[in-house]
Amino acid sequence: MIILKFFIVVLILIKIYYVAKKRWCTSKVCLNGKTVLVTGANTGIGYETALEFAKRGARVILACRDLKKAAEAKDKIISLTENKNVVVKELNLASLKSVKKIALDIIENEERLDILVNNAGVGAINNKMTEDGLQIQMQINYFAPVLLTIYLVDLLRRTGNSRIINVSSCLAYFANVTADTINKYGESPVKTYSNSKLGNIIFTRKLASLLKGSTVSVYSLHPGEIQTDIFRHFKGWHKFVLFIVKTSYFKTPEEGAQTTLYTALEQGLEKYSGHFFIECQKRPFYKTATDDSLNEEVWQATVKLLDCEKEVEKLFPKIS
Ligand SMILES: NC(=O)c1ccc[n+]([C@@H]2O[C@H](COP(=O)([O-])OP(=O)(O)OC[C@H]3O[C@@H](n4cnc5c(N)ncnc54)[C@H](OP(=O)(O)O)[C@@H]3O)[C@@H](O)[C@H]2O)c1
Repeated sequence: MIILKFFIVVLILIKIYYVAKKRWCTSKVCLNGKTVLVTGANTGIGYETALEFAKRGARVILACRDLKKAAEAKDKIISLTENKNVVVKELNLASLKSVKKIALDIIENEERLDILVNNAGVGAINNKMTEDGLQIQMQINYFAPVLLTIYLVDLLRRTGNSRIINVSSCLAYFANVTADTINKYGESPVKTYSNSKLGNIIFTRKLASLLKGSTVSVYSLHPGEIQTDIFRHFKGWHKFVLFIVKTSYFKTPEEGAQTTLYTALEQGLEKYSGHFFIECQKRPFYKTATDDSLNEEVWQATVKLLDCEKEVEKLFPKIS
């Protein structure tokens, strides 16, 4: 009986902790005349982020792999916001061809790009290599967003006062990547997920240093623990436990979008370009992301694996 009571008290305390730590993006910034692109915007955190951007008057590009789901999300956003300037573009991050295709489309057809949100991601999927010779989870969560950003940096720079947001995860705390392992399966699906999310933070730091002196800033973040389908590939008891924890403690997707919105909209954040945020606050980097020489090796290996040395050299001539 005492053990049961103790257990219930612990559960209540955890619930209080989760409720107390929630923070909201309070920015009143209007996005009339601005263009934003959100990857994985048909559901979860990405959908809520796109919805808020549309409410604020932006032209919103939903970059999604499933065009049917994306069209449904678009219709919902338009009917909720009465902002008809919402468009769908196809993006499958598991294919670098698809990344290039959407980037060329944006460069050719969009006059500006004010906010790029690299939000799409997969949690804990089985190991395999893509047609591009990259580990699938590392490609979807890390390599492809890096390439998409590299393709779009010039447009972001020409637009000016623009921002790039990389949605990472607290699981980056448990990661370890090196130049040799960045394209490898990391012992388990969850470890591979952690490694990809550490990649997001390392990339954000590197990109901020490359963009120093420009008016483009870049941020990474952990959105919190959110009731979405990110771990839809879990099976058996993992799935059951996750369901219980998720429904009892996790935040709603709308709450989960707040740190993304904060880093995209809050005025005066430029001095923190490259930094990592949780609950709408700048936080110290996880130890796993602080080894500068290791990070540089990972970056060089990434550029090589993506075969984009020339693009990077052209974009950042002094540094690379
Ligand atoms: N939920 C959490 O607790 C949590 C915690 C930390 C970090 N995050 C991060 O938050 C971000 C958003 O995740 P979420 O929780 O909102 O999950 P979600 O509801 O599962 O949404 C993920 C989105 O990514 C898209 N996506 C997956 N694979 C893709 C591919 N190959 N190409 C293009 N798009 C693809 C999905 O499209 P489909 O609908 O077609 O599958 C979906 O739109 C992810 O980067 C995730 O790592 C989430």
